[in-house]
Amino acid sequence: MALPCSQTFFSVLVSFLCLIQCHLASSAILLSMKHHHHNHIQHQRPMLQANQSSCSLFVGTWVQDETYPLYQSSSCPIIDPEFNCQMYGRPDSGYLKYRWKPLNCELPRFNGVEFLQNMKGKNVMFVGDSLGRNQWQSLICMLSAAAPQAQTQLVRGDPLSTFRFLDYGVNISFYRAPYLVEVDVIQGKRILRLEEIDRNSDTWKSADLLSFNTGHWWSHQGSLQGWDYVELGGKYYLDMDRLGALERGMKTWANWVDTNMDRKRTKVFFQAISPTHYNPNEWNAGEKVMATKNCYGETAPISGTTYPGAYPEQMRIVDMVIREMHNPAYLLDITMLSALRKDGHPSIYSGELSPQQRANHDTADCSHWCLPGLPDTWNELFYTALFY
Ligand SMILES: *[C@@H]1O[C@H](CO)[C@@H](O)[C@H](O)[C@H]1NC(C)=O
Ligand SMILES: *[C@@H]1O[C@H](CO)[C@@H](O)[C@H](O)[C@H]1NC(C)=O
Repeated sequence: MALPCSQTFFSVLVSFLCLIQCHLASSAILLSMKHHHHNHIQHQRPMLQANQSSCSLFVGTWVQDETYPLYQSSSCPIIDPEFNCQMYGRPDSGYLKYRWKPLNCELPRFNGVEFLQNMKGKNVMFVGDSLGRNQWQSLICMLSAAAPQAQTQLVRGDPLSTFRFLDYGVNISFYRAPYLVEVDVIQGKRILRLEEIDRNSDTWKSADLLSFNTGHWWSHQGSLQGWDYVELGGKYYLDMDRLGALERGMKTWANWVDTNMDRKRTKVFFQAISPTHYNPNEWNAGEKVMATKNCYGETAPISGTTYPGAYPEQMRIVDMVIREMHNPAYLLDITMLSALRKDGHPSIYSGELSPQQRANHDTADCSHWCLPGLPDTWNELFYTALFY
């Protein structure tokens, strides 16, 4: 039914005025957010989650599901020896048959062909340390299983490796930058520069979908430590508070993303801290555990929704820095659900370990994750956050 002309004109005028007003109001809010950056405003996370009101993707339990895993290690074109537990003799397979069940909803089934079609002509890039590489390879395995006939190409490099699905024009890359911020070498000394982003960050700008991670390297000490000096404000330090250093580095990264990424074009994710399982006292409450044991011999997840041991302290920093971003990255909040998976690590079934190390259960890898395995769930969540 047509409205009388004057009324139409009036309503158009009203909506027009409202548009201007709303626009001015939101600009004003934006401006005040910019100017009061240190006002501890709690910025909201982007509303990407499926059924945000009724479904928390990251709170739930592990349930047994015989339809898992989503692929076999033998059919995946890229699994590094350190993640390839089946190839390196892991005898049990129960750990492969779990599905993540959020408390109030079901995760959609991963559809690799849909992922490739939606990402046609795009560049997906994981940036960070070996936990990012873990997720990168998992995604390639999941996509390859869904499109086994697809023409592919792998170009391995350091820092950048790219796996291409040629028929779809999709690139799935991993860029090694374990601190996200710069590590320079000057006169043979490695300098961790807390206020400089990786010099190759121009490569990151070419991505349409970015998933960053960092964490474990900030706490490494001794021979595992990745730097000799930390540089902050032109001063050089032999060491400093590790959480403080992580916070400074994360803020440099957050500023870089806010300043450099066109968020209309590029989606930005941050993979939360991946927990380790070196101390069985954390999950064997009360029972006396032999001091030599770690995650070795664990074959089942922890039941229930919460890990009885300590929650990684680094998450407090990650949470805070992301909330304070002008345009927050989507936090793929996998920490708690991964903490429940004491059974998911390579343990002694890692191709990185020598036979002697494998014989010695003290040197188990309780930090990375078997493939197939837990990172497949990270990618199911990544997929859900992207498309649902
Ligand atoms: C989302 O909520 C609607 C309505 O409450 C429900 O029908 C649907 O099954 C939910 N979807 C998921 C994935 O839980
Ligand atoms: C994928 O990678 C290749 C080789 O690095 C490059 O030539 C091509 O442009 C990339 N494709 C996309 C969509 O970025």
